Amino acid sequence: PDQEPTIFVLFGATGDLAHRMVLPAYYELYRRGLMPAHWVLIGNGRGDVSHEDFQGDVRGAVEGTGVQLDEQEWSAFAGRLRFAGGGFDDTDPGSLLDVIDTVRHQVGDNARYIHYLAVPPVAFGPLTDGLKAHDLLTRARVVYEKPYGTSPQSFQELDDRVHAAMDESQVYRIDHFLGKEATQDLHVLRFANTLVASIWNNRHVAQVQIDVPETLDVADRAAFYDATGAFRDMVATHLFQVAAEIAMEPPVSFSAADLQDARESVIAAFRPLRSEDVVFGQVEGYLDLPEVREGSTTETYAAARLWVDTDRWRDVPFVLRSGKQLAKSEQRVTLILKEPDGPLDGVPLHAGELSFSLAGDGEIELSLVLKKPGPGLDTVRQTMRLSLDDVPDSDPLPPYVALLHDVTLGDRSLFTTGAGLEQAWRAAAPIIDAPPTPIRYAVGSDGPAEGDALTDGIGWVAAQ
Ligand code: BG6
Repeated sequence: PDQEPTIFVLFGATGDLAHRMVLPAYYELYRRGLMPAHWVLIGNGRGDVSHEDFQGDVRGAVEGTGVQLDEQEWSAFAGRLRFAGGGFDDTDPGSLLDVIDTVRHQVGDNARYIHYLAVPPVAFGPLTDGLKAHDLLTRARVVYEKPYGTSPQSFQELDDRVHAAMDESQVYRIDHFLGKEATQDLHVLRFANTLVASIWNNRHVAQVQIDVPETLDVADRAAFYDATGAFRDMVATHLFQVAAEIAMEPPVSFSAADLQDARESVIAAFRPLRSEDVVFGQVEGYLDLPEVREGSTTETYAAARLWVDTDRWRDVPFVLRSGKQLAKSEQRVTLILKEPDGPLDGVPLHAGELSFSLAGDGEIELSLVLKKPGPGLDTVRQTMRLSLDDVPDSDPLPPYVALLHDVTLGDRSLFTTGAGLEQAWRAAAPIIDAPPTPIRYAVGSDGPAEGDALTDGIGWVAAQ
């Protein structure tokens, strides 16, 4: 393991995101032997929680993900967990500085910091000021959850505040869709296979779909969600980043800087969304949730048709969709291929597809048109499937684990840059300024038909 002594500070340690994602990810890193040799993790939150209660709480979070704990391993891990309550800001650090003082001696006086801000976007600015005011940014890396900013203006204000406190090289803006195994495979498949590389353009692709319907509801985090909505929570963040992974020009190399450049340049070519290309929906019953504002017009569903103004993608619509409490959960990226010009008659429309499931360990499906065995020349469409977890000796890292590991290594390849997000917010701005009125949809449905219409009659591609 990495020999550098490390103090991890997790802000928002009692929150939903920390419980579901971040705390289990730290444990997984530990189990795999990927934590630094000397470390302590301090959870920070408003409450007054004892170290022991916090350890119990983290245990619950880890067990909640279905992991079977090895007691010996667990107690070694738990022994390095601390809690520092009383909140944290530039005037009042709560008990964090005292707890840090105590653990410094155990970890090493020269310990570096890895701060993780698992808090709602409004808290990023004050926490950043606090980190600076209390001198916690020397030899530090800081992870910001998404959304980083909620509009072009709030993005700019936050990014200026962050740059006033630290150097860009210390900033890790997380978008965990970039850390998914299958998202990374988009590149490998494309750049390692001429068969795939040669169709990756508007001569061969008719439409790109990035479709992330979810059955999940938002009851556990309704206050955050009501202030955020599906467009910021998913579309302008995760789905834009996935669109950039597909649409980018080949990076000069796979170094972090070149990858980030390629991502930034293509997001700069995203055409600002027009209101006629965006559909919002709100699920029935949303307004009855306790933490949702009365008469809220927050969308729980958003679909958009995005245009990428590069030579490679001109005239190819990227259609994006995500929503809560829909009929099914999928995370699917599909390149729908154009029809051939002939000479064969009766080729089914939009039959050729290259489709990626980003969920879990990932899966790739290729649909082709074949001769239907038998007399005559009838055609039939068949699909072949490759599961990434069938790859021998594969050892996939869940996205938060992979990205946290990258933070400890100082590898920023899979993190977004300020310049990239500035461009993403620019493309999203018309919708943020004048959001469409959400269309009501039923729980367990496919969402508003108006959203389906953005696919130009093709429909959302599903697993075959
Ligand atoms: C999160 C969003 O960032 O991503 C959630 O806030 C969404 O609303 C989730 O459900 C989907 O991520 P995953 O881990 O299921 O791929």
